[in-house]
Amino acid sequence: MTIQLRDTPERYGLVTRILHWGMAIIFAWQFLGMIARVTLGRTPLVSTLVGTHSSVGALLFVLVVLRILWGLLNSLRRPAYQQGLLGFFAKVGHWTLYALMFIVPLLALVRAYGSGRGFQPFGIPLFSATGEQIAWLTAPANAVHGLLAWVLLALIGGHILMALVHRYIIRDGVAERMLSDVRQAA
Ligand code: HEM
Ligand code: HEM
Repeated sequence: MTIQLRDTPERYGLVTRILHWGMAIIFAWQFLGMIARVTLGRTPLVSTLVGTHSSVGALLFVLVVLRILWGLLNSLRRPAYQQGLLGFFAKVGHWTLYALMFIVPLLALVRAYGSGRGFQPFGIPLFSATGEQIAWLTAPANAVHGLLAWVLLALIGGHILMALVHRYIIRDGVAERMLSDVRQAA
């Protein structure tokens, strides 16, 4: 038995799965913090949860760039979408997830740069403070960062629902491509 690192037409490999499940956990942290802020207000507990928001968001941006590159490298090897409407919607759904995973943190990073206040994710100096605000860099995130993030959350909800439908109702082996044993006979 060998551990399959790269994807194969039958199932996703270890690297894709670490990115998929690792990012799923980090997204859960990101959204739980914001759901707590919206529902409970700014209590001390919420401030602790949300205090990591910008740094964790920047980390998610780095991870999604790596995931896109890894996806491109594996595009000819990974499991194909099914024929018909279900496969079509899965493809459009996954592409939209990618687009939002990229755009939502990107807009916020651009805003952090344009704010002139400086930005140090996890203490790493990324943008230094200039004291000068650049309105056209801050406006897009002010307008849609939160909104697009909630759209992403709704799409993730639909995605999880479809994974459950594949596993427990249709039972066509699609869910197992991300869930089954990652080892393969050598
Ligand atoms: C994929 C990563 C990210 C997700 C899923 C995400 C999600 C969210 C959500 C759901 C909200 C709440 C909107 C509301 O109050 O209705 C929010 C707000 C906010 N986020 Fe993010 N965020 C991400 C990345 C970032 C990054 C990288 C930064 C900073 C560099 C950032 C800074 C902010 C700020 C300052 C707010 C409050 C102002 C606003 O609503 O635009 N976020 N984010
Ligand atoms: C409990 C949470 C989740 C479950 C049960 C789940 C389940 C799955 C399954 C079974 C697949 C394989 C589908 C196929 O082969 O067509 C898949 C793929 C995928 N999932 Fe999830 N997922 C979850 C969370 C997430 C989250 C939070 C995101 C993004 C924000 C996401 C994005 C994707 C993408 C883009 C793919 C296509 C493969 C790839 O490029 O990585 N998933 N997911």
